[in-house]
Amino acid sequence: MDWTAIKDRAISFISEAAHRLYDPAIRKLDIETKEDADDLVTENDFAVQRFLTKKIKEAFPGHFVVGEEGEHEERIPEHTVTWFIDPIDGTTNYVHQYMNFAISIGIYFEGEGKVGVIYDVIADEMFTAVKGEGAYLNGKKLLPRRKVNFSQAIIGFNARWLVGRARPGTKEVFAGIVRDVRATRSYGSASLELAYIAAGRLDAYVNMRLSPWDYAGAAVLIAETGAECTPLFRGDQLFMESCTVLAGEKHVHEEILNRCNE
Ligand code: IPD
Ligand code: CA
Ligand code: CA
Ligand code: CA
Repeated sequence: MDWTAIKDRAISFISEAAHRLYDPAIRKLDIETKEDADDLVTENDFAVQRFLTKKIKEAFPGHFVVGEEGEHEERIPEHTVTWFIDPIDGTTNYVHQYMNFAISIGIYFEGEGKVGVIYDVIADEMFTAVKGEGAYLNGKKLLPRRKVNFSQAIIGFNARWLVGRARPGTKEVFAGIVRDVRATRSYGSASLELAYIAAGRLDAYVNMRLSPWDYAGAAVLIAETGAECTPLFRGDQLFMESCTVLAGEKHVHEEILNRCNE
C-alpha cells in the first residue's frame, strides 16, 4: 500500500472540505445539542463528514470510514483500511471563538496507525505523518522530542475534567501534577492539543474520555516524533468506544502514568 499517496489524497480532501469552514460569513450555525446542553454539533459538522466520506468512498471503495457524525457499523471489518475522521474537532470553539478547531483524519490498517492528517483551519497549519517517514507541519519536518524535566513541562489539561470526568480518587493526583509542572493550557481541540505534543508546543495532554476519531490521526504524529500516546490507566485499551488518553514526551508521560497508577 502506498501510504504516502494515500496521505496526499487525505490532505487534498481536507483542504477542499476546509473551504466550507473558512468564511465566518457562511458559517452555518444551525446548532443542535447531543448528550447534554454543552455538547454541540452544527450543520457543518455533518456537511464535512458527508463530504469526506463521499471523497474517500469514491477514491477508495474498499476502505471503511468511522466518523463522529456518521453512521457506521460497530465492528471494524478485519484486513480493511479504516479512516477515522473528525469533521470538526473543537465544535465549541468553532461556534464560540472561530479559532482552534481542526479537521482530523487517522488511517489505520490491521490495528496500526499508518497516516495522520490534522488541519487547523484558521491558523492554516497542516500536521501530517506517515508511519516510518516522520511528522511534518506545513511540509517542514518536526524534530524528535527531547527529554523534558517534569518541573518544566507544559501540559494540556482541562480544569472541567476535575469536576466531571475524573475517576474517584484521582483528583488529588491531578492536583499534584498541576502543581508540579510549569504550566497548564487548554485549547479545546483534542486533535490539535495532541498534535502540539509532536510539534513541541505541549509536553503532555490528558483527556478523561476520547473517541478514536479524536486521537487516531495525532497518535501517528506523536509516534513519529518519539513521544507516547496510551490510555491514562494501565489495563485500559485505546480504540475502545471511548477511553482515557495520556500523551506526552516520554519522561513526562511516564511520570504522569506512574502517578496515576500508583
Ligand atoms: C471534543 C474536543 C474537546 C475534548 C472533547 C472532544 P468535538 O471534540 O476535542 O477538546 O475535550 O473530549 O469530544 O466534540 O469538538 O469533536
Ligand atoms: Ca462532538
Ligand atoms: Ca472531537
Ligand atoms: Ca467533532
